[in-house]
Amino acid sequence: MRVLIVPASRFGGTAEIGRAMAATLRAEGLDVDVSQPDQMFNLSPYGAHIIGSSVYFGEWLDSAVTFVEEHAAEIRSKPTWLFSSGPFGPGTPDEPIRGDVVERLTSLTGAVDHHLFGGRLELDRLPSRERFMAGWVGAQDSDLRDWDEIEQWTKGIAATLT
Ligand SMILES: Cc1cc2nc3c(=O)[nH]c(=O)nc-3n(C[C@H](O)[C@H](O)[C@H](O)COP(=O)(O)O)c2cc1C
Repeated sequence: MRVLIVPASRFGGTAEIGRAMAATLRAEGLDVDVSQPDQMFNLSPYGAHIIGSSVYFGEWLDSAVTFVEEHAAEIRSKPTWLFSSGPFGPGTPDEPIRGDVVERLTSLTGAVDHHLFGGRLELDRLPSRERFMAGWVGAQDSDLRDWDEIEQWTKGIAATLT
């Protein structure tokens, strides 16, 4: 089966999660393509989807939401998993991603599961306004992406698909 992974990302942290997922699925014998949401138009070759986004201010990136909205019918017709990447330690909102956002995305896609992974924050790469806001909430450079957790979650998907 061919699986599509769409990891929407601003600074590459979530894209790296997508690539790690792809490596895990390939090791389990699946064909995998990884694409950013604004480069993906034809979903027909794929038998399953993993769609994710980094989280900013409790929301998915617009490109990921637009992708889901535009392809909802096709996405729903195949098994689909969702993930988010965000929490960065001190300063992370109490509700890292808004509950109603997850509810809406799950309902649009008919997703089997949504999983929230830790994120990576590199303050030097942020535009000055966001760097100021991050400093204001006490955020520091961090990388809370747990590669074992990512691998285990992805292996669960592979087990369902193979
Ligand atoms: C301005 C700003 C707002 C953020 N808001 C959230 C948030 O609401 N919830 C969360 O879990 N992470 C939040 N994050 C952390 C990002 O989601 C995290 O850094 C993520 O790993 C970035 O991934 P990317 O490199 O793929 O864009 C925020 C980061 C910044 C800079």
